[in-house]
Amino acid sequence: MKAEAKYRNVVNNDAKELSKIESHIFTMDNLKTNFNEEIKKESKKIFVCTIEKRKKNQRKFNTFIKNIYNLFSNTKNELEININYDDLIIGYAKVWIILDEMHIEQIGVIDTYRKQGIGEQLFLLCVKYSIESGSKKILLECRNSNISAMNLYKKYLFKITSIRKNYYPYKNFREDAICFESPEIQKSFYKKLIYKKKN
Ligand SMILES: CC(C)(COP(=O)(O)OP(=O)(O)OC[C@H]1O[C@@H](n2cnc3c(N)ncnc32)[C@H](O)[C@@H]1OP(=O)(O)O)[C@@H](O)C(=O)NCCC(=O)NCCS
Repeated sequence: MKAEAKYRNVVNNDAKELSKIESHIFTMDNLKTNFNEEIKKESKKIFVCTIEKRKKNQRKFNTFIKNIYNLFSNTKNELEININYDDLIIGYAKVWIILDEMHIEQIGVIDTYRKQGIGEQLFLLCVKYSIESGSKKILLECRNSNISAMNLYKKYLFKITSIRKNYYPYKNFREDAICFESPEIQKSFYKKLIYKKKN
């Protein structure tokens, strides 16, 4: 079942939550991104994916309020309570603009929400943003073992340009980084590929 996901630009208040989910998503990397700083940078852009989740203990609280109401109320009308929701971040993508190139630095979804199209939507937001900002191409890299990410990049015609030997730590060893590059994103065939997809 698809999660009811919404996509938006990052806001200052997201920094704490992003730091929290970063370590859940990138479990093999010991990342400690300073999102407070990243959010402020002009050269960076962060998209987040959120879902609404009922606030903890909301049901108990509603029942408590209803019981009090029933105790003191003379009418038989049911008390209507608006349910309170939290906006939970379940994925994000961060890009870095370097002259006429865009670098997708991080893209990730919390594991329980993967394989529902969220990573792809975040990826498409990054590509569209890159096209609309006039970038010529997009660069990124991932671990050699990261089949999910590599399939996503290949789906959008990214090609492997080089391999950085032993780039990432992997348990007691090191793992190669696979560097990818997009086709020329301002070309009309590529725009057609990107914009025909639903967003
Ligand atoms: C890579 C990642 C962002 C994909 O997100 P996702 O929401 O699970 O992916 P989607 O459901 O949108 O799938 C989009 C495409 O990715 C590829 N893909 C995703 N999961 C895959 C899997 N388990 N196996 C193979 N391909 C996979 C497919 O090409 C898929 O397209 P398809 O559905 O048409 O086959 C997610 O696996 C993730 O967060 N991984 C951990 C963080 C990470 O490694 N980030 C990338 C390096 S920075």
